[in-house]
Amino acid sequence: MRIIGLMSGTSHDGVDAAIVEIGDVGDSGFDVEVSVIRHIHVPYDNALRDAIREAFSGSVEHICSLNFVMGEVFAQVALSLIQEAGLSCKDIDAIASHGQTVYHIPPIAFQRCGCTTDKKCGCTTDKKRGSTLQIGEAAVIAERTGILTISDFRTRDMAAGGHGAPLVPLPDYILFKKPAVVRAVLNVGGIANVTIVKNAINDTLAFDIGPGNCLIDEAVVIYSDGAARFDKNGSLASAGTPHVPLLEELLRHQFFKQPPPKSTGREMFGAVLVRDILRRYGAVAQNDILSTLTHLTAQVIFAAIRPYRPQEVIVSGGGSRNVFLMSLLGELFSQKGCKVSSISSYGFLPEAKEAVCFAILGYLTLKRRPGNLPCATGASRQVLLGKITLP
Ligand SMILES: Nc1ncnc2c1ncn2[C@@H]1O[C@H](COP(=O)(O)OP(=O)(O)O)[C@@H](O)[C@H]1O
Ligand SMILES: [Mg+2]
Repeated sequence: MRIIGLMSGTSHDGVDAAIVEIGDVGDSGFDVEVSVIRHIHVPYDNALRDAIREAFSGSVEHICSLNFVMGEVFAQVALSLIQEAGLSCKDIDAIASHGQTVYHIPPIAFQRCGCTTDKKCGCTTDKKRGSTLQIGEAAVIAERTGILTISDFRTRDMAAGGHGAPLVPLPDYILFKKPAVVRAVLNVGGIANVTIVKNAINDTLAFDIGPGNCLIDEAVVIYSDGAARFDKNGSLASAGTPHVPLLEELLRHQFFKQPPPKSTGREMFGAVLVRDILRRYGAVAQNDILSTLTHLTAQVIFAAIRPYRPQEVIVSGGGSRNVFLMSLLGELFSQKGCKVSSISSYGFLPEAKEAVCFAILGYLTLKRRPGNLPCATGASRQVLLGKITLP
């Protein structure tokens, strides 16, 4: 099958789109050959980025209208990609569109009586329902392209009690399993998430780690009054030194102590947190704050992955372009004899990887195979992901 994956992540920097050829080469369900035909990244203009930011806390009217606007945007990106690849719409079997997340509420476990788990009073644990909202109307994508469109991948997993995230572990296993090697497949987008890939699918582990670029980006936007969106190559942070009390405070965040399955987003690590930090640490130099946030990202990634003793850490996402962050990760993991490399050394463009994973998830859905891993999302069972809009 030839499938287009469309991805717009928490960074809301633009759309990554990839045309992928996918087919089974064995009977295990995991022996799937994947080749990337073409990738494009289409950045959002300032007006659209502002409209997306407004949606994070916006009116129902704004979100309703933006859902259709984003549908048009995704459709145009898919059409441009098809044209650049020298193909036509009839050459494409399906579009798998992640959509733009505007809100994500993870499910949380709690004790019915209100006691904490360590009191062991014997009462039952209950789960508060989670919910998530990705926009970019699939009906518009299908209407403009005439291509079957799969959307809303996260909701079915959440309906089964899961976090709806991370969903890339099964594609990561398909792409990166290697006999006798433990690999940590790390995506540093707005949020950082990891899949620990071992020989057997049942040994796969995955979870959201916490902030990837989101806190750094937020601080840069505030400092530059919107003129810059991120710390290019980490050059601002590398000119500063970490502010130790702030770093220690941030490392104590309760999310890092939570055991998997767990998921997070801008609601926890976004503008609200950064504004609070800048208000309380206003006297600290800008480069030092950015250094602190970059060290925080590196240290939480290291602490989260270290217990699984990988031999290789494979980094994708825009964060892999942050030279300073990559050097911090390299230093931390080298003490454990573990090699940190950009996914580009493994033949993938760092920006294309998530789009490729969603194309694989679309493929699994069309083959009527589950795409989630309950050990990663906390769902009660494996489910078929996504909603299908016929052309
Ligand atoms: N050259 C670079 N230097 C530092 N950071 C970068 C660079 N290129 C991209 N990034 C970071 O990557 C982010 C986009 O990463 P991406 O993987 O698309 O995340 P998401 O999936 O959340 O959209 C940008 O917001 C920026 O923080
Ligand atoms: Mg992005």
